[in-house]
Amino acid sequence: MEMNYAFFVWFIVILSPVLALLYYIWKSATARLPPGPPGWPLFGNMFDLGVMPHRTLAGLAKQYGPVVWLKFGTINSMVVLTAAAATELFKNHDHSFAERMVTHTMKSHDYDKGSLALAPYGSYWRVLRRICTVEMLVSKRLNETVPIRQRCIGNLIHWIEKEAGKEIEVAKFVFLASFNMLGNLMLSRDLVDPQSKAGSEFFDAMMGLMEWSGHANISDVFPCLKRFDLQGLRRNMDRDIGKALDIAAEFFKERAQEKEQQTGGDRKADFLDVLLEFRGKGKDEPERLQEREINIFILEIFLAGSETTSSTTEWTLTELLRNPEKMAKVKAELANVIGKDRRFEESDIENLKYLQAVVKETMRLHPPIPLLVPRKAMKDTEFMGYRIPKNTQVFINAWAIGRDPQCWTDPLSFEPERFLGSKIDYKGQHYEFIPFGAGRRMCAGVPLAHKMLHLIIGSLLHEFDWHYDSPETMDMADRIGITVRKFVPLRTIPNKSRA
Ligand code: HEM
Repeated sequence: MEMNYAFFVWFIVILSPVLALLYYIWKSATARLPPGPPGWPLFGNMFDLGVMPHRTLAGLAKQYGPVVWLKFGTINSMVVLTAAAATELFKNHDHSFAERMVTHTMKSHDYDKGSLALAPYGSYWRVLRRICTVEMLVSKRLNETVPIRQRCIGNLIHWIEKEAGKEIEVAKFVFLASFNMLGNLMLSRDLVDPQSKAGSEFFDAMMGLMEWSGHANISDVFPCLKRFDLQGLRRNMDRDIGKALDIAAEFFKERAQEKEQQTGGDRKADFLDVLLEFRGKGKDEPERLQEREINIFILEIFLAGSETTSSTTEWTLTELLRNPEKMAKVKAELANVIGKDRRFEESDIENLKYLQAVVKETMRLHPPIPLLVPRKAMKDTEFMGYRIPKNTQVFINAWAIGRDPQCWTDPLSFEPERFLGSKIDYKGQHYEFIPFGAGRRMCAGVPLAHKMLHLIIGSLLHEFDWHYDSPETMDMADRIGITVRKFVPLRTIPNKSRA
């Protein structure tokens, strides 16, 4: 009995300081996390976000400040909600947060390993990024491909002309036109062509891929559930990525044969040629890109460029229909600069300041990827007085930042005029306006997206008058998938405005 008592005393004497030390370490580790809503045991804040997380998260800034801490099951997450916090992140910590968080569905067929958007921050990412920005999307090559985009726009106008006077879902038409534009830049072929079986199968598989990649997945929050794939997302993704990759492999083979037999004629080099002709320079670079990496890159361009372009166009028309005086102003500018006798051309863009302002204002209020592509802390990082542990998932709420009242007067109203005479643009230098992100992982497609958006929106406004019965009561709710688009798709009536 006595011995037990002595043991107990020693146990307390030795253990107490150890416990106190552990408690101190735990306390100091957690004390410096950003504040955030308490959350449920085990589940954390999983049920707090609702169906429109960008809106729910924006609402947390009032109570918790510019940086909020959340837990989704086992995943630590930090959300940046104001322009000031985004400035601090991009200016001083971009490198620490340059890694991506990869979801379980995007690991299907090792997609993430060949992807530029999801690649770990390192040499492979650097090579792909350089190919994209320095070889594919440079002015010279973009200028060479003007006729391709002009032809695709011609088709879009023709499709809509056939529907003139009827109500149409405009985003669908724009999606198909963007898809074809990217198909031609990438592979020199019309993929949305009733004659092309491979094209329409590829299109269907890509639609599936976009659908599954936009869903929240319980397997990401509780990795132990991965193998059960409770929502079936991984199975669906395996099927559709598999199909899309098989078809891309066919395109690849055809091109390899064309090169071997020199049957390409005088076709201008497209993005696939650039990928095939790549030869690594330094010892960190692969000698050439593997077939699989090229096929994944092909998918990536469609994933990155089609839905984003069509949802931005849909929001632009929506905002202009709700603001008839802005619609009149932008159409007057188009009539003035281009005249009534010809179509919109890319070279007009620089002379259309109000159109540019309209596109910017739409993207300020409706950035298509409102939380950007999630990043991950590469190491423990001191950020705004907090200690952010390695592997924390990082969301940057571009939607909330575009509406930050510290930066924007009357932030909720659609006022393109605010951009006239202002230097603010979306090229990643103005952190209050980041629809394309900023820093190292900023969108690699901005020069092309800029041209496509203005060409499509400008042409639709120049060629047609748009009618909507009661714009004052238009439903402005949004829904999140791979991008944020209108919950109720815009259905509007085009009438030819130019002979
Ligand atoms: C309206 C059109 C577009 C919008 C709004 C948009 C937006 C974005 C955003 C927000 C990101 C993440 C940036 C970040 O994490 O900081 C991104 C990444 C990316 N975008 Fe775009 N994008 C558009 C069009 C395009 C196009 C046309 C292409 C290609 C031709 C493209 C290629 C990419 C790539 C490759 C990445 C990944 C960059 C990286 O991780 O290094 N995007 N885009």
